Amino acid sequence: MRILGIESSCDDTAAAVYDPAAGLLSNVVSSQVDVHALYGGVVPELASREHIRSVVPVVEKALDDARSGRDAIDGIAVTAGPGLIGSLLVGLCFAKSLAHAWQKPIYGADHLEAHIFAVFLERPVAFPFVALLVSGGHTSLFRVSGWDDVDFLGGTRDDAAGEAFDKAAKLLGLGYPGGVAIDRLAAAGDPARYPFPRAWLSHESADFSFSGLKTALRTFLASPAGRGARIEDVAASFQEAVVDVLRGKALAAAAREGIPRVVLAGGVSANSRLRARIAEDGARSGVEVFLPSRALCTDNAAMVALLGERRLSAGVASGPDLNAYAASRFSR
Ligand code: KG4
Ligand code: ZN
Repeated sequence: MRILGIESSCDDTAAAVYDPAAGLLSNVVSSQVDVHALYGGVVPELASREHIRSVVPVVEKALDDARSGRDAIDGIAVTAGPGLIGSLLVGLCFAKSLAHAWQKPIYGADHLEAHIFAVFLERPVAFPFVALLVSGGHTSLFRVSGWDDVDFLGGTRDDAAGEAFDKAAKLLGLGYPGGVAIDRLAAAGDPARYPFPRAWLSHESADFSFSGLKTALRTFLASPAGRGARIEDVAASFQEAVVDVLRGKALAAAAREGIPRVVLAGGVSANSRLRARIAEDGARSGVEVFLPSRALCTDNAAMVALLGERRLSAGVASGPDLNAYAASRFSR
């Protein structure tokens, strides 16, 4: 089935066309970074208004790039949640209208599941696998035993890893969004220069906590040592603390579950240091680590189209009551 995917859960308006026989035919992402940078974070009402502005041209471009019109499209997939409710409603309402007008089936995709399975756009992964989903809104570990068999193992008790990166970047005066800026700056810094805290919680815990690290950074920057520190060393040391916890807990979860496969997903899995270090861990411990290319780590509609294709071709479609949801469906 050839599927049009639409994603609008946060601050990117995205559309893509995926067809298992032909591969990914288009993948369009319109970023709102310039709008939100002025405020140092995503402003929900502005995000919704930008989606309203962008959704038609973005979908048209995805269809044009894929040389696919109404007749070529067999179904529509759209992110139903979790995310910012106003943002989700724009994409969802547009997708439902299109499905209704075109008389095509529609599937409301879960944003987290879409991230987890994004890797399949590039290569197959044997089930079961452990997925580490690290983004601006989520930091969670899952045991994935099949396309509709996803178990939540643990998640953050406070900030998500991406949120920690963004807040740290703000404290360092690097602007928004901060993950990429810290990644870039850290490349020229010493990751062992400052011993920022790693919150392991209990030994067995698959939960995360990053709020203490954020406070430690703020306290350090206000101290005499912090005021005299090289910003590259601070960025590298901060990043190392986040990366150590992410890779440590992902590998520990794989060992506990007895699964020698770890898949990374979400915007923070674009981080260079995390990618390099977790790949080393995998090679050392015999765990296969799957790293999707960066464009498939951050928010995109290709992953939504892929998940929609799997569901719709299996006969699983959403009904006319399809609606948006803000909170994650996954919990223990
Ligand atoms: O998955 P995503 O695009 O959107 C959400 O669903 O949240 O993730 C966005 C998050 C932001 O917090 C951003 O700072 C972070 O991913 N991020 C990075 C990098 N690229 C994006 N964090 C660290 N290093 C990066 N290279
Ligand atoms: Zn996301």
